[in-house]
Amino acid sequence: MVNENKKYYLWVLGCQMNEADAERIRSILNSLNFKETNYEKEANIIITIACSVRQSAIDRIFGKARNWQKRKDLVTILTGCVINEDKPRLEKIFNNIIAIQEINKLPQILSIKSSDLSPSKEYIEILPEYKDNFKAYVPISTGCNNYCTYCVVPYTRGREKSRSSANILNECKKLIKKGYKEITLIGQNVNSYGHDLKDELSFPELLKQVSDLPGNFWVRFATSHPKDMSDELIDIIANNEKICNYIHLPVQSGDNEILKRMNRKYTREHYLELIDKIKKRISPLFLSTDIIVGFPRETRKQFKNSVKLFKYTKYDMAYIAQYSPRAGTASYQMKDNVTKKEKKKRELKLDKVLKRYALKNNHNLIGETLEVLIDRKKNDYYYGKSKTFRDARCQADNNLIGKFVKIEITKAKTFSLEGEIKKE
Ligand code: SAH
Ligand code: SF4
Ligand code: F3S
Repeated sequence: MVNENKKYYLWVLGCQMNEADAERIRSILNSLNFKETNYEKEANIIITIACSVRQSAIDRIFGKARNWQKRKDLVTILTGCVINEDKPRLEKIFNNIIAIQEINKLPQILSIKSSDLSPSKEYIEILPEYKDNFKAYVPISTGCNNYCTYCVVPYTRGREKSRSSANILNECKKLIKKGYKEITLIGQNVNSYGHDLKDELSFPELLKQVSDLPGNFWVRFATSHPKDMSDELIDIIANNEKICNYIHLPVQSGDNEILKRMNRKYTREHYLELIDKIKKRISPLFLSTDIIVGFPRETRKQFKNSVKLFKYTKYDMAYIAQYSPRAGTASYQMKDNVTKKEKKKRELKLDKVLKRYALKNNHNLIGETLEVLIDRKKNDYYYGKSKTFRDARCQADNNLIGKFVKIEITKAKTFSLEGEIKKE
């Protein structure tokens, strides 16, 4: 279908899982002598790695892919998270749709012979071609068994499947040997890691083993589910220098009735207790969350419980989403009765509360020194993330990309900090 030496373009939507999957696709295509381009127009193959979590992402894909149809020289492939209900329409505008678990079949689809890829190999074990050369995502599991009533992930990615700890540790060792400075262990619900395997490590044990590997690097992880975040995990984060003090703990709602209807399996009280425990044990801390506004039949009073929760937790960051009904999920049967206008209003309200506390939290850091891993330069500034996941920038004469630096904070904005490099 496609000759060799052609150019491909990867369009990645959605979460870190899709970013990690893109790195596996990149390695397959590079091994087949294809070249990546950052420009859609230059490409002969476009691979879209979709996210279906909200209707808006799928609408964007439709919008773009329709234009691609005009180019007869182009091969368009869709993979990632796609729900069955959207497939018939998507099949009409893409040359091919393949499940991410079947990405090994890419050479066959492109009609190219490949000896390296056995179609039976688990896709997650394909050696990735990392996007960065000092920080990397390492997937520890894919899929999810939780079936939150609004969520497509258990349908698009299937049941939770863990990778063996031996393979994960191997990948981490290789990264550290190559000089990688930051490893992020990812999964939809890292806390239930290993439950599907026999005699496997628990997540806290795995995290500990990764951080015990010799070398100068940081370890991050996401996402934790509040229903099974253990004291053991909190202790391991608190006691381990290499594990970053960054906790992303999606709450989804601050109201018990809504949490129940979302099938989240915890209460507001349990969540807040967890937050108290975390704040007591882990300092400094960066705390973030995901929350949905306008879930079916969410009343203003119920929404206020989310606002109150935000005021109590004082998050540093939050991903606030307006509820989007997704075909195939349980909540799709419930009437989406909160108007678009009301959802927007609720989103803005939470955003305002978030920003107030995030700015306060950042202001408190003026005068403090933060360790930052610099990842890019723009104009006169070097930018990076602190160990606690705060965005920070500084100026310097020498190239700092990929280096740990200590920055003394002089200025604070809502979601970013600025400072001067601290001389040792
Ligand atoms: N595993 C993670 C979330 C994965 S999906 C967890 O358990 O929290 C990423 C985020 O998308 C979710 O946290 C949720 O806030 C949002 N989301 C998922 N389905 C949604 C829907 N139908 N409408 C709006 N937001 C949704
Ligand atoms: Fe979706 Fe819930 Fe699974 Fe997260 S835990 S991926 S929100 S079903
Ligand atoms: Fe991630 Fe979206 Fe799939 S959030 S797991 S890419 S549906």
